[in-house]
Amino acid sequence: MSKGTFHIKTFGCQMNMYDSGKMADILISDGYAQTDDAQAADVLIFNTCHIREKASEKLFSELGTVRKLPSVKVVAGCVAQAQDELVIKRAPFVDIIVGPLMYHKLPELLKQKQKAVATEFPSESKFDFLSMPSGRSKFSEFIAVQEGCDRFCSYCVVPYVRGAEYSRPPAEILAEARHLVSNGAKEITVIGQNVNAYHGGGKTLEYLLYKLAELDGLLRIRYTTSYPGAMTDQLMAAHKEIPKLMPFLHMPIQSGSDRVLRAMNRKYTVDQYVETVDKLKQMCPDMAISSDFITGFPGETEEDFQQTLSLLDRVSFASYFAFKFSARPGTAAADLPKQVDESVKKQRLAQLQKPLNQQRLRFNSGFAGKTVPVLMTGETHGYSPHMQVVNIKGLACKEGDMVNLKISRAGVNSLVAEGFDS
Ligand code: 5AD
Ligand code: SF4
Repeated sequence: MSKGTFHIKTFGCQMNMYDSGKMADILISDGYAQTDDAQAADVLIFNTCHIREKASEKLFSELGTVRKLPSVKVVAGCVAQAQDELVIKRAPFVDIIVGPLMYHKLPELLKQKQKAVATEFPSESKFDFLSMPSGRSKFSEFIAVQEGCDRFCSYCVVPYVRGAEYSRPPAEILAEARHLVSNGAKEITVIGQNVNAYHGGGKTLEYLLYKLAELDGLLRIRYTTSYPGAMTDQLMAAHKEIPKLMPFLHMPIQSGSDRVLRAMNRKYTVDQYVETVDKLKQMCPDMAISSDFITGFPGETEEDFQQTLSLLDRVSFASYFAFKFSARPGTAAADLPKQVDESVKKQRLAQLQKPLNQQRLRFNSGFAGKTVPVLMTGETHGYSPHMQVVNIKGLACKEGDMVNLKISRAGVNSLVAEGFDS
C-alpha cells in the first residue's frame, strides 16, 4: 500500500542532485510514490545548498511559499546541516531537518510523526544503507565516489556540512555503475568534492576510470571536481588511454594571485596550476579546461585581481563559473579583516566575466563547421565531449541518442547543429 507521495526540490551542486536521487530511491522502496506536483505532495523535501548566502536564502523564500500547505515539510541537505536552529526559528512549521549524511534515516523520521532534527555525522556510512535505484536509469547518471572534505579552504562550508573526507570502496561503486549501465545509462559522471584525490580501498581515481571503461554499453565517462594539487601523471595518462574518458577537466583555480591563494589555504601556486594545465595539454592536446573563480576574497587588492586577469594570458579556459566572495558563517575567511566592498566584488566579477566569455566563445567557435558526437539529453539538446550544450535545429533526435552532428554556429554558451554526419 502506498504511504503517500513525495516531491523533492533540489538546490546546489551535482552532489545534491545525486543525494536527491538517493532519497527518492529510499522513499520509493519504503512505499512512497514520487510526484512532480509540489503542491499536492504529502511529503515536501527541500534539498538545500549552503555554499553562498544567495543559495541559502533561496530556501527561506521557497519555504515562505509553502508554509500553508498541509504536507509534511522536510529540509534536507547543507542548510539543514549548517543552520538547523535558524531553520527552526525562521520556519517553525518545518517538520523534519535532516543533514546530508543522515538521509538514509528518512523513512524512520517520517514514521515517527513528530518534529525531528537529524544532523549528526554518524559513524556508519550512509552508503551502506542505500539501495540500488529501481527502474530505468537516466542516460547520464552521477555516482558519488567520495564525500566530505579535509582541505578546509578558508572560504568553504563543505568540510562543515559534509564532514570529513570519505572515499567509498571501489567494489561498491562499480556495482552501482554496473546496475546503472544495465538499466540504460550511457554516461557516468563520477563525483566527489576532491574527486581526483579519491583513495577508496587504497585505489586511485584512475583505477575506477579504467574499470568503468570496461563496462559494455557505457559510452562516456567524466569526473568532477578536481583539486589542482592532486592531478597526477597517472590520471593525466588515463585521458590518453581511455577513449571513453571525455577530454574535459573542471579544475578550479579560484584566483590568479599567489597571495590570495595562500589566504584561501589552497596550497598551490599559480605557476603550479599552469604547469599542470600545460602538462595535461601536452599529453592530451584535445583537453579542455574549466575553472571556478572567486572575486573579492578578503584582502584581495586591485593588483591581486589584475593577476587573476593576467592568468587568462597563460591559460585559455573552455568554460568557467565565477562568483563574488560570500562570507559563510563558521569559515575562517568570514572573520578575516579587510572584507572587500560588495560593489568592488561585483565590479571585478563583471570585469573577469568579459575575457572569460571571450575565451569561451573562442573555444566554441573552433567547432563551427566540424562534426561533433553528441549524447542527447533531451529531444532538442545534448552534450559534446567537451561539455558544450549542443542545440539541434530541424533535426529529429530522441533522448539518449548518440549522434554525429554538424555544428553550424557557436555562441558563448552553446553550439547549434543543423545537420547529421555519418
Ligand atoms: N564564496 C564564493 N564562492 C564560493 N565557492 C565556494 N565557497 C564560496 C564562497 N564562500 C565557489 C568556489 C567553488 C565553487 C563550488 O563555489 O569557486 O569552487
Ligand atoms: Fe553542494 Fe556545497 Fe552546496 Fe552542499 S553547500 S549543496 S556540497 S555546493
